[in-house]
Amino acid sequence: RFEKIHNVVFDDSNIASAIVAAEIAALIRKKQEENTPCVLGLATGSSPIKVYEELVRLHKEEGLSFENVVTFNLDEYYPMTKQNVQSYHYFMHEYLFNHVDIKPENVNIPQGDLDADDVLDFCVAYEEKIKSYGGLDFQLLGIGRTGHIGFNEPGSHYNSRTRLITLDHLTRSDASSSFLGLENVPKKAITMGVRTVMEAKRIVLLAWGQNKADIVKQTIEDEIDSSVPATYLQQHHNATFVLNDEAASELT
Ligand code: F6R
Repeated sequence: RFEKIHNVVFDDSNIASAIVAAEIAALIRKKQEENTPCVLGLATGSSPIKVYEELVRLHKEEGLSFENVVTFNLDEYYPMTKQNVQSYHYFMHEYLFNHVDIKPENVNIPQGDLDADDVLDFCVAYEEKIKSYGGLDFQLLGIGRTGHIGFNEPGSHYNSRTRLITLDHLTRSDASSSFLGLENVPKKAITMGVRTVMEAKRIVLLAWGQNKADIVKQTIEDEIDSSVPATYLQQHHNATFVLNDEAASELT
């Protein structure tokens, strides 16, 4: 059994998000001084929104440049077009990419609009591209109520890599209101694997709200098990959970 995951608890998720954004900004600036790309793994969903808003503010008001930043998003629904407002492609442009000076060619997001025959090749190429940059310097995560990170649902293997996965019923049901009905939520997604995430040099997972309290407790306090894929993070040497009071409320 490994050490408990390091966690920090804030009463205000806005302040917590600003601190995470400051860590990312410091990393971007350090890599600029070293003249090397800063490779970020990014998440979508409600949890990271304030982090992205703060990064945009740092760009607009404090001169933070994204010119040396290369991003790899965790996941995308499948099938999904880029133009669809529910797509993670749309989300990332709306909250971050359209408002900073990142080079479009440095943005990588799993493609939800591929022919089924092309998915496997795409996933292999995605892994290769991450590797070509020397891996992810920083991975931002949320956590789903199933214990998924990215869309690595229960049962995901430690050694899993980028692949097509079938979404858990609970995940689809949690997404159903934004899709205006369960029947509109895609049944599959392309996601980075557990191993892809675990190879990041630094991981920060965000969880806010009472509805995450139970899965946060299981993730930090239970044995490592594929039934709660986020428990794999217990084996990471540089992972921090950033929580608010509600999300931390079940921790012993
Ligand atoms: C999104 C992702 C998911 C979400 C998780 C939590 O790219 O990979 O694992 O982070 O489903 O979603 P929110 O933040 O909406 O509660």
